Amino acid sequence: MKRRITFTMIKPDAVADGNTGAILNRIEGAGFRIVAMKKTQLSKAEAEKFYGIHKDRPFFGELVEYMTSGPIVAAILEKENAVEDFRKLIGATDPAKAEEGTIRKMFAKSIAANAIHGSDSDENAVIESNFFFSERERY
Ligand code: TYD
Repeated sequence: MKRRITFTMIKPDAVADGNTGAILNRIEGAGFRIVAMKKTQLSKAEAEKFYGIHKDRPFFGELVEYMTSGPIVAAILEKENAVEDFRKLIGATDPAKAEEGTIRKMFAKSIAANAIHGSDSDENAVIESNFFFSERERY
């Protein structure tokens, strides 16, 4: 199978709690290769753009406020079947519904502060990777 990419962000609560290393360890341990990575803080305009698909949802304001509340760690990851396998590794959006052993089960505090993002399609993985990284930041 062709190696593919997905995009992830370790979200502000997980970074602030000092869980970046533990989460990256889980990600690499599951066979994902880090192609690009940076620590950065989203502006309100950037968070609104990144989550634009949710702009009419009731949780949008809270989502943008949370995602801009502190630095995040963004990364492009490579693996066979990357998008689907990574969604399995992170678990359900709501940590109360996430399976044992998933990153959200281990590190998420709530459906809003849910520790980590993973792209939901190959198309979005490319769009989201391009949102954060230039070609020369990828190795
Ligand atoms: P979504 O794309 O549905 O979930 P996922 O991150 O698992 O792909 O939602 C994007 C983010 O919006 C989600 O990670 C957390 C936040 N969110 C809420 O705060 N409340 C909600 O009810 C939902 C569905 C999402």
